[in-house]
Amino acid sequence: MADNTTPTIMKGLEGVYFTETKICKVDGAKGRLWYRGYSIESLAKNSSFEEVSYLILYGSLPNVDALGAFRNKLVSCMALDGKLVDLIKGLNGKMAAMDILRTIVSAMPAFSEKKVFQNENDERIEEAIEIVGRICGIVATIGAVSKNGNYTGPDSTLGVAGNILYMLNGKKPDEKTSRMLDVMMLLHAEHSSNASTFCTIVAGSTLADIYSAITAGICALKGPLHGGADEKALDMMKAIGSPDNTEKYIEEALEGKKKIMGFGHRVYKAYDPRAKVIKAYLEDIQNGSTLEVQTFTAIALRAEKMMVEKLGETKGIWPNVDFFSGPVYTYIGIPKDLFTPLFAASRSPGWCAHMLEYWQDNKLIRPLDYYNGQLDIPYVPIEQRK
Ligand code: ACO
Repeated sequence: MADNTTPTIMKGLEGVYFTETKICKVDGAKGRLWYRGYSIESLAKNSSFEEVSYLILYGSLPNVDALGAFRNKLVSCMALDGKLVDLIKGLNGKMAAMDILRTIVSAMPAFSEKKVFQNENDERIEEAIEIVGRICGIVATIGAVSKNGNYTGPDSTLGVAGNILYMLNGKKPDEKTSRMLDVMMLLHAEHSSNASTFCTIVAGSTLADIYSAITAGICALKGPLHGGADEKALDMMKAIGSPDNTEKYIEEALEGKKKIMGFGHRVYKAYDPRAKVIKAYLEDIQNGSTLEVQTFTAIALRAEKMMVEKLGETKGIWPNVDFFSGPVYTYIGIPKDLFTPLFAASRSPGWCAHMLEYWQDNKLIRPLDYYNGQLDIPYVPIEQRK
């Protein structure tokens, strides 16, 4: 308390710890990130989305057999019921892809083999695996339906990232593209108590079911201050248009007190380690890709250089995971309005793991707000009001 009557208000819950966790550590000052103790750099180099999802959900790395079974389960859950596909088709063109995803995920219990609320942790993990696989299939199908109206089921010879591209395009991707998406997905799989994960936990802390909790997470991810920043960052690159316009555009935006989407972070006051991995991809795809990708890449790299020089050390504003994604996704062939839904699919293991962990020692989340309005105002009957 600041004095006897006024509490200290932590706006945006900045700097507030609300629980303990063993899932993820973010060191914002040093720009470091670990999932279950493994550094993001070592996972990006050696692991896959499936393995990282297993690690996040179960707490340890799988052996060969466990990973194979886990991968098969995820891929089989990417196959969608015909009625669910019809729902997606019915919403196509009427809502943004992220809104379709939110609606379809809230309708998922209608298409689940499981009971809606599981009691045992093992059952809950099984349910989480189904949710992760299903959301991946839903996101790919939202993209495919918007593209050509068709549903393609998953191919059991491909992993999750390969299947997202297969279901989206109706043809098998090449290894390089598939691996790029795989790494993009594992980089987004988890990130401590960010807005969407916290929102998931808040909903689940009421003992609402996991589908409700994940739907709440998707709602929070959508906004441009969180997961929606990836689409906005690409919008900016499109608006800049030509690499030579980059510096002038950024200068004017900053002078006009506009935020540059894909920069800044509540926790990182150093370079986001995920952005470093994605930036290396940008340098890789700079040559030998379409003119559009080359243009986005050149703009992104020039914007990053300028922003880092201007605001990096001085204000602690560095590129975050959302800045470089647009050119990479465009290279991979992902349409812009699928960026944030894909982020949701990638983050679904993190949401589920946090929910399961929190439920092990659940406490309803109910913070306080400090009322600073009037009290005991005399009630005036409506006919006497001016
Ligand atoms: N561009 C320019 N200035 C910025 C940016 C930015 N991207 N981000 C923060 N700032 C400035 C603010 O204008 C403010 O300046 P001031 O002190 O002179 O008023 C200062 O930095 C603090 O900014 P806040 O928004 O108050 O800081 P907060 O911790 O609340 O914000 C946030 C974090 C919301 C991510 C912010 O940096 C932002 O809006 N970034 C752009 C959106 C974005 O990229 N979001 C994705 C984050 S990663 C993720 O969620 C997956």
